Amino acid sequence: MSTRVIAVLPGDGIGPEVTAEAVRVLTAVADLYGFKLHTEHYGIGAAGVAEDGSALPERTRAGVLEVEAILLGAVGSPALANAAGNRRPEAGLLALRRLLGAYANLRPVTMHSALRHVSPLRPERLEGVNLLIVRELTGGLYYGEPRGRDDHEAVNTLRYSVAEIERVARVAFQSARERRGLVTSVDKANVLEVSQLWRDTVTRVSAEYPDVGLEHLYVDYAAMRLVSDPASFDVLLTENLFGDILSDEAAVLTGSLGLLPSASLGEGPGLFEPVHGSAPDIAGRGVANPIGAIASAAMLLRYGLGLNEAAEAVEHAIDAVLQAGARTPDLATAGERTLGTVEIGSEIARLVLYGGAVQPAL
Ligand code: IPM
Ligand code: MN
Repeated sequence: MSTRVIAVLPGDGIGPEVTAEAVRVLTAVADLYGFKLHTEHYGIGAAGVAEDGSALPERTRAGVLEVEAILLGAVGSPALANAAGNRRPEAGLLALRRLLGAYANLRPVTMHSALRHVSPLRPERLEGVNLLIVRELTGGLYYGEPRGRDDHEAVNTLRYSVAEIERVARVAFQSARERRGLVTSVDKANVLEVSQLWRDTVTRVSAEYPDVGLEHLYVDYAAMRLVSDPASFDVLLTENLFGDILSDEAAVLTGSLGLLPSASLGEGPGLFEPVHGSAPDIAGRGVANPIGAIASAAMLLRYGLGLNEAAEAVEHAIDAVLQAGARTPDLATAGERTLGTVEIGSEIARLVLYGGAVQPAL
């Protein structure tokens, strides 16, 4: 029996609750497909600070480079919101992404038919919505130097190199090739030099993919079109900060930020995490939606371990429980019965294990 080794970084807030369910589902997958899943747990974020004073402890830095893939919950804690340097939880996540060279962040936005009524958009606007955000993850304003703040001013720097744009653009074009064949590149080229370089570079890379269409949109217009005509997007390629903002906006289409998974790929092991944050307001109450984390585990199976069939089995199980009416509070409409994090995770794990042989029992 082969052993597959992953690192689990539960992090803060609801992170430990949702990653526990994702691991439960991965364990069911391992049972079904006949491999042994070995998990190593490491601290990050406020949990890392509690462990050894750093949001990305040395033990974590070393451990994540030794595994096949990394599953992460969420980082962020009100108590450390104003912490400086490497004690800021978010700084731990940014350092991890950099350490892994995880420059391409894939955020698929798919509609579950059972949740149409949960979306604030009219159902007819949601017809055909299925997009993939490819967000550049290790450059731009998040990492630019110089940066700093004194009493009178603060500075962040927006900088991208041609090579950084090219490599993430290739991920977008490759992805589009396996989808509906359209890349929409989002920038602010009417104002920013960096965006002009972005646009020129993406256009040049597109020549390598004659079978894929390319359009360029300004970010303000793209934000509007995401809600006025979301079905017009296939692959949305953009830089780090625009991608952060647009992915929260796109999440709303699906009904809840709690549903969205992500994969961050690049040079080292892939990093798989839900798009949502640590949600301190509901942490520890067992009501967080585990589906974003479980769908991230499906992406881990696909991109991290190369187990496509297993990934699909998990995605089908997610669909089946939603179809059967499973709702955490973020998905429930008035009067609907809600289930807890563990109940939904356990039911998805059971469906995975027994395949099509059992019906959801909720
Ligand atoms: C995300 C998050 C992070 C980001 C934060 C926690 C640093 O919002 O993954 O989208 O801005 O990248
Ligand atoms: Mn974000």
